[in-house]
Amino acid sequence: MSPFLLTRTLPVDATDAALRADVLAGLTRRPKTLPPKWFYDARGSELFEEITRLPEYYPTRAEREILVAHAADIAAASGARTLIELGSGSSEKTRHLLDAFGALHSYVPVDVSESALTGAAEALLAERPELNVHALIADFTGGLALPGTPGPRLVAFLGGTVGNLLPEERATFLRSVRSILSPGDALLLGTDLVKEEGTLVAAYDDAAGVTAAFNKNVLEVVNRELDADFDPAAFDHVARWDADAEWIEMRLRARSAFTVKIHELDLVVPFDEGEELRTEVSAKFRRERVREELGAAALRLDQWWTDTGGRFAVSLATAV
Ligand code: SAH
Ligand code: AVI
Repeated sequence: MSPFLLTRTLPVDATDAALRADVLAGLTRRPKTLPPKWFYDARGSELFEEITRLPEYYPTRAEREILVAHAADIAAASGARTLIELGSGSSEKTRHLLDAFGALHSYVPVDVSESALTGAAEALLAERPELNVHALIADFTGGLALPGTPGPRLVAFLGGTVGNLLPEERATFLRSVRSILSPGDALLLGTDLVKEEGTLVAAYDDAAGVTAAFNKNVLEVVNRELDADFDPAAFDHVARWDADAEWIEMRLRARSAFTVKIHELDLVVPFDEGEELRTEVSAKFRRERVREELGAAALRLDQWWTDTGGRFAVSLATAV
């Protein structure tokens, strides 16, 4: 049996301090916002997995199609011995990649969700006892303390999660990814693509209401962690396409005027009737924008693969 290591880069109380700071900053400004990383407690991670199986939510299926078709190309082009995956979640699609790498030494999944990480690592080790799995509970937007595993390195950032970062955050993030790569190492990046509005909105406002529950889960996280009294039923789930920014915004809209108490912060937050709290952006891309943003971080776009429906893209970029 190979070693399974679980490292917590952020101590539990640092995570707590980060949540406090984000909630204080986000709920005392207008428009109110909360960062999407706080969706993902154990329940949020389960709800996300449910989303990936919804008929309306095409990105997971489209990206899987690309990975199945091109895993061998990705393995051959990168020649990686260490695969680092940011925001790895269940690592479900990653299995297709792992199967294609003959000589992979280590897999390093990185996620803020401890439940998703441990579940994924245990399942992977049961199937692949020879693989070194070094799971990191860490925020991928902070500095990553990576294990000293052998190169070349391939960093995978799948699912379109890069679109959940705002443009300035994305630029900083891509530069920080570049800083953990040596020349010749590579980044495998999944990006959802701009498409017709109806398809996009349906993917974020499904008929079964799973995305609405996922959206409201951030309120449950704040209630539990900061002793707040949000009533999730007092909000409507909103998914809107912003054609200028080319992103979907998820929001929670107050059904009436009320106040919320956040006891741990000694904070009372007033909501007007109809006021919206932005919980996520999910940017959609075009090839040229991906190429430019990678280039600005000294990453050269070498390969661009799409699914047969042209809905989603996976890029392979080399550190130059
Ligand atoms: N890669 C998987 C999961 C995508 S869901 C897939 O393609 O299906 C997004 C994942 O990123 C979740 O598991 C969430 O916990 C994680 N995540 C979100 N923000 C994060 C952050 N700032 N740092 C680390 N992980 C984060
Ligand atoms: C993780 N991320 C890429 C998802 C997305 O599509 O932006 C999160 C999500 N939000 C609502 N549904 C899924």
